[in-house]
Amino acid sequence: MIVVAIDGPAGAGKSTIAKALAARLKLRYLDTGAMYRAVTFAAIQSGLDLTDQDSVSELTQKSEMILTNDTVSINGMDATKAIRGEVVTAAVSAVAANSLVRTELRQRQRQWIADHDGGVVEGRDIGSVVFPDATLKVYLTASPLVRAQRRVAQTGGIVEQIADAIAARDSQDSTRSDSPLLQTDDAVTIDTSNQSIDQVLDQIVALLPKAP
Ligand code: DC
Repeated sequence: MIVVAIDGPAGAGKSTIAKALAARLKLRYLDTGAMYRAVTFAAIQSGLDLTDQDSVSELTQKSEMILTNDTVSINGMDATKAIRGEVVTAAVSAVAANSLVRTELRQRQRQWIADHDGGVVEGRDIGSVVFPDATLKVYLTASPLVRAQRRVAQTGGIVEQIADAIAARDSQDSTRSDSPLLQTDDAVTIDTSNQSIDQVLDQIVALLPKAP
């Protein structure tokens, strides 16, 4: 079973690369950030206090989530668009810092990969915690300016403001106590700032063990 872990900060190109890599390798693609976002969306919809760790955890455990390559639904609601909106984006780091939520989602991520016989998985703690035995671990990064410019191209906004928001989220994601964003020694780091999608994909594919 092939599992490729793609970790890195926001705007490093993880989604673009992970999706394209999955298509090239004919594997499924799992966006674990979308799972944290979907829980955040459902918690906001239910009017929960996001700092109430037990309530948000209880909601996570009861929630049914369906993830395809392009869509996310939670408890029958299509959350594909809403999870990319400002409200969820600003709130998701707080939910991702909830250890009870992380334990539940990690277990679901492992189950998803077992059910789909492997895949390309993107997130923050995939190589470090969720799949420490992944076939290949890639840590994608890019300069802060490039990362902000990419987000603006996707969702609009002002580069300086988006750069500040990304920096705040990076800081929250990197300093939380449970499975923070980090580069493991066995991950291959690729800076995507000045590379095309195909250049990055070629590097990753070259790192994979050849089929016997
Ligand atoms: O990759 P993204 O921006 O969609 O991630 C949304 C949030 O979820 C972000 O604050 C980091 C967090 N996250 C996480 O803590 N662990 C993961 N495996 C994936 C995302």
